[in-house]
Parts: sequence; C-alpha cells; structure tokens
Amino acid sequence: MLALTVAPGTKGSARLDEVAEPDPARGEILIAAHSVGICGTDREIIDGLHGAAPPGGDRLILGHESLGRVLEVPAGRDLAIGDWVAGIVRHPDPVPCASCAHGEWDMCANGRYLEHGIKGLDGFAAERYRLDAGFVVKVDPDLAERGVLIEPASVVAKAWDQIDRIGRRAFWAPSRVLVIGAGPIGLLAALLGVQRGLEVHVLDRHTEGPKPGIVRDLGATYHSGSVEEAGSADIILECTGAPALIVEALHAARPNGIVCLTGVSAPGKKMPVDTGALNRELVLENNVVFGSVNANRAHYDQGALALRRADPRWLDRLITRRVPLADWATALEHRPDDVKTVLRFGDL
Ligand code: BGC
Repeated sequence: MLALTVAPGTKGSARLDEVAEPDPARGEILIAAHSVGICGTDREIIDGLHGAAPPGGDRLILGHESLGRVLEVPAGRDLAIGDWVAGIVRHPDPVPCASCAHGEWDMCANGRYLEHGIKGLDGFAAERYRLDAGFVVKVDPDLAERGVLIEPASVVAKAWDQIDRIGRRAFWAPSRVLVIGAGPIGLLAALLGVQRGLEVHVLDRHTEGPKPGIVRDLGATYHSGSVEEAGSADIILECTGAPALIVEALHAARPNGIVCLTGVSAPGKKMPVDTGALNRELVLENNVVFGSVNANRAHYDQGALALRRADPRWLDRLITRRVPLADWATALEHRPDDVKTVLRFGDL
C-alpha cells in the first residue's frame, strides 16, 4: 500500500512509499484513510526539525490529523464497518506517569509519550492503518470530510477547557477574547470563543485572501495591525508561536486575564524583554500565562461537538485545498491563501 513517509531529521526526505500492510499487532481495528490534514508540525518534520521514527527504523509515516472509515472491527466494540473515524494522536507513556495513568496523556509528565505521525509511531497518511478501539473516535457522518478537523478542534477544545478551569480560581466575568493567528488553530479557537458567547477578535498579518472574510462571517472582528491595536483582552489565545507576538500578548492581558500559548516555536530567537516590568504587570493583575498542547479523549469529544454546532458552510471554508495523494508534494507547500490543506486518499 502507499504511504507518505519521511526520514525525521533529514530535510526534504518526504516521499510516497510502497509500505507493508499494517501489522495486526498494531491494533484490532483496520481503517481505510479518507484524508489527512497537513499542519505546521508536519512541515517542521519534513524540514528535518522535529519528529522521530518508530524504534528500529529510520522512516516515519506522516499524518496526525485523520479521517478514515472502519474496514474491520471485532464484535463487541462500539464501532461498525463503514463508520467514519479519527485516530487519537498521542499514546500514554509506558510507565505510565500519574497523568497518563489517569487518561490525561495530553499532560504526560515524563515526555515518554508517543504520537502518531510525529513521535515514534507511524501516522495516518497511509492507505490503511490499525488502531485499538481506545484510540479511535467516531465521527458524525453529517460532518463528512469536515471530520478531518476533529484533531485540530480537539487541541483547541483542550486549550479552552484549561482556560475555563483556570478561570474558576476566583470570580471572573470575561468578555473580550483575542486570538492571535488566523490559521486553522486560531480560527477554531475563535469558533469556540464565539460559541461561548464571548466577543472575539482575531489578529493576523494577512490583509487579503480568505481569512478576513472567514473571521467576519463567524461574527468575530478581524485585525491586521499590532497586538496593541487589536486591544487588550480577558482571554488571549496565542496561536502563532512567533516570539515577538508572544511578548506583546503577555502585555495585552487585562486584570485577571489568562494568556494561553499554543504555538510551538523554534528556539534560538532572542529578544530583549523588560522582565521586571512584565513580572510587575503579571503579578499586580493576577494574570495567568500557560502553555497547552495535544488533547485527551474528552477533548476529542468536545472538539467534535463544537464542529457539529458550527455552520457547515463556514467549516467548509477552512479547508482551502484538497489534494489527491498523487500530488502529495503540492499538499506540503504552504501557499498564501491556504488555511487548511487536506491530502485525500479516497472519495466520500
Ligand atoms: C498536534 C498535537 C501534538 C503537537 C506536538 C501538534 O501539531 O496537533 O497533537 O501533541 O503537535 O507534537
């Protein structure tokens, strides 16, 4: 069967490979790929900056944002042949640490977790793959190909879940949200903010292309200037990982405000920061700054619910390119008008 593979650590090593059928030991459920979403993490892996192959090999099957259909499932599982499904990306560490032992592998405390298509486990950019039922999420057939957005939606649902929990530390009545970055994560973060009834602002550098209209039609406000111009907020979701924007984001939090960092940035970019002034502001305003990564099963369910509640025509606009497997190389390019590019293995 065909799979998109890469040699982690080697820039430009991505290729379409003929690989063996998935080993039944990999999981009781056999899934036929319909599509995989491409994200910044995939581009980092193909640039040789991130990722690890499964033990004993030097190539990794890419793909962690998945949508597929069940081909084989043992009796007694809450799944049937033909069901639409998405795979859970992270697997708990083998120890397991206390967080993983509680099913909160997204909070893994020892770093020994594995991630499909990213770290030590083959991904979903293969014609077929196997998973155990505990790592399969059913996708509402009404979502159709929008189901491929469940993984990024789960990441955003986790971030919001954490914001809600942190917000309960004291009385708090947030009203204004600032999302920095109008990529898929930023736009889905904005969606969940609007669904919570909050006033949402989205900042991105693009002044043209699909993003301003997508934000406007969500009922949010689009900004393309600086963070300062976009204004202070009770909740800030930083979704770019750009060092200069992160520092600005910290200053933009209102009293009692929460800043959630979701972008994984490359190290090495140093910039002067007035740590004393920043610390003073954070302390005197009871601000919380926290990082959020990945998602556990509850977040996949929350992400799926958010997608089901969204206007399907709005979600369709997030998928700006659908690329057949044969043209895989163009799916990995990042074009100015791209929001989410999806690599397609099959038709609905
Ligand atoms: C994925 C997460 C993953 C993170 C770090 C993101 O692109 O969506 O599931 O935990 O990368 O590897």
